Amino acid sequence: MKNIKYYLEKAQKEKFAIAQFNFSDFTQVKGIVAGAVKANSPIILGTSEGESKFFGLEEAVALRNVLRKRTNLPIFLNLDHGHSFEYLKQAIDAGYDMVHFDGSKLLLDENIKITKEVVKYAKWKGVTVEGEVGKIGTDSSKLYLEKFEIKEEDLTKPEEALKFVKETGVDLLAVSIGNFHGIEISGIDPNLRLDILKSIKDIIGNTALVLHGGSGTPEDDIKEAIQMGIVKININTELRLAFSGNLRRHLNNNPEEITPYKFLVDARESVRKVAEYKIQIFGSANKA
Ligand code: 13P
Repeated sequence: MKNIKYYLEKAQKEKFAIAQFNFSDFTQVKGIVAGAVKANSPIILGTSEGESKFFGLEEAVALRNVLRKRTNLPIFLNLDHGHSFEYLKQAIDAGYDMVHFDGSKLLLDENIKITKEVVKYAKWKGVTVEGEVGKIGTDSSKLYLEKFEIKEEDLTKPEEALKFVKETGVDLLAVSIGNFHGIEISGIDPNLRLDILKSIKDIIGNTALVLHGGSGTPEDDIKEAIQMGIVKININTELRLAFSGNLRRHLNNNPEEITPYKFLVDARESVRKVAEYKIQIFGSANKA
């Protein structure tokens, strides 16, 4: 099977984005992978530090291996928003394909210093690295957020992005361009700042760009951002909402139901639908 770098380059060349779908439970993974199989798409399974501590790093790697073998699809695994070199090293040693160091809340020089350490170790192990410059707000654990205000100073500054990619040698860069984790109270997030994305792309050239906080983002913006150089988009909140909402509904409607393989079916199916839909929007269907 071709590696993740091959698919990221293909995405860059053919102008589509690979979805990263986050999970913390096996049933979610089954739904996500069923969506990818139907669409014949490469995917990245993502676990944050919290998600991976709940699921287990080695368990996630073992599951990726089994699913790759069974589906024959390029299924990759990313440690999302790692906050220390030590934890990312554990993920690399366990067999993750890719790691994301999130030093966005640090001073730029400190962010660069730790990212460089991660890159050095990861390159030696053949693992892909994502870095981050600019602050991407909130988290994916809210049903709906209050109206979310993005501060201008939190957006990625193109010249900082350039310094960061030059000095660290990361493979991918996550940017803050009006995106945030979670979904705004209206159900649709405000428009992306595509003007800032353009300035970043113009200055940094070929480094692949990542859009976090993909849930709720207006679809036209997503499509345009892909044309402008976004090659990976992370989705979590919409999957969590689909999963928990359907599970809650099923158990409320069937108070006697105690059999997991029965009460989890609707939740799994709802995750499949979200995953398959996002894959279509991101243009990665039939790119496996
Ligand atoms: P959403 O929860 O907004 O989909 O964002 C997910 C994400 O960016 C994970 O890194």
